[in-house]
Amino acid sequence: MTRRSIRIAGNVRNLPGPLWDSAFLRTCRGEAAPHTPVWLMRQAGRYMKEYRDVRGKASFLELCKDPALACEVTLFARQFLGVDAAIIFSDILLILETLGLPLVFTPDDGPQLTRPIRSPTQLGQLGDPEQAAADLDVVYRACRLTAMGLPADIPLIGFCGAPFTLASYAIEGHSPKQSAQTRRFMYRHEDAWNRLQRILVDALSATLRRQIEAGASCVQIFDSWVGGLTRIDFATYVQPHLTRLVAQVPEGIPVILFGTSTGHLVDLIAACGADVIGVDTTTDLVEAWARTGGPDRIAVQGNLDPGLLLADRDRVLAGADAVLAAAAGRPGHIFNLGHGVLKESDPELAKALVEHVHIASARRR
Ligand code: CP3
Repeated sequence: MTRRSIRIAGNVRNLPGPLWDSAFLRTCRGEAAPHTPVWLMRQAGRYMKEYRDVRGKASFLELCKDPALACEVTLFARQFLGVDAAIIFSDILLILETLGLPLVFTPDDGPQLTRPIRSPTQLGQLGDPEQAAADLDVVYRACRLTAMGLPADIPLIGFCGAPFTLASYAIEGHSPKQSAQTRRFMYRHEDAWNRLQRILVDALSATLRRQIEAGASCVQIFDSWVGGLTRIDFATYVQPHLTRLVAQVPEGIPVILFGTSTGHLVDLIAACGADVIGVDTTTDLVEAWARTGGPDRIAVQGNLDPGLLLADRDRVLAGADAVLAAAAGRPGHIFNLGHGVLKESDPELAKALVEHVHIASARRR
């Protein structure tokens, strides 16, 4: 049974009316909405001058760990763009730090975990998962502040990395790319791999629960690197753990599962029980729906090419029209990019895109 059918059967309704009835949450549940809701992955980021100004005063990790600043950049981006949801400003890697893996961000090489896990015995470095989640108190304080500052009908999206993607960072020590060390660990130490996955799922479900208690009314799980796996490996090494994570999200809170280059996995990803699957630019929205049971069973999110935002206005809006035409006004489509906003993008164009999606989709209703 999908999470959605459980919820409808149980008629769970534990959110304030305007939030429950928001275009975004209605769409997550597959219900009709007056327009197609839209938000952009990495909507608060380096393409915005206001973000760069804040980053001039604080490093990326300092920003993530300062609830007032994290709230400020989250709310600014949400309001500037006029998007239908805010996503809390944070990072999927923070939980690895509180689990016991020191984390630094270098300007050139991105995230670095300085004591990666390369052998089963090194799993002993990891602390208690509940405690690791509790230690991210700054994130929950940021969620509380942000939820209070949002309009009544705008949901806050909480998030975490998926257990495969986080294990990849923990094992490689940096952005995985080939995931060679991860694959070696996964194949050669299957018991330890499963133990690592269980620790991660326990920590991740605890942090999601705490973000929800602090005001998040939807969650997105980022599985950025899982697209490199074959179907059989996904089914063997990933699916059971992802399924357990999704099942632990409290009822009434939609789950979006996002991955990149996952076209060959969409049906397996949908079978993990998510309410919404993220579709990147390598996968066709209609095909994703066709392979996962269609709008009656699951919602989809995507999938404008983030690179298209570097084009002129007419081309961007035509690209948006093509995405809307694929979804054809059916309920259960959240408009987004296929991946995060590029730092070279023009914020005014991003804003024009959002406005266009609202107007053009309302006309299709
Ligand atoms: O979407 C949002 O606006 C919310 C904030 C958010 C960030 N990272 C902020 C960020 C979210 C949801 C993430 C998730 C995240 N973090 C993922 C999954 C999504 C994806 O892109 O696939 C991953 C893989 C990470 C890890 C991470 N964080 C990397 C690899 C990097 C370096 C690459 C880069 O673009 O700089 C980051 C840094 C990061 N996370 C930035 C932001 C705004 C840039 C930091 C800066 O200001 O310099």
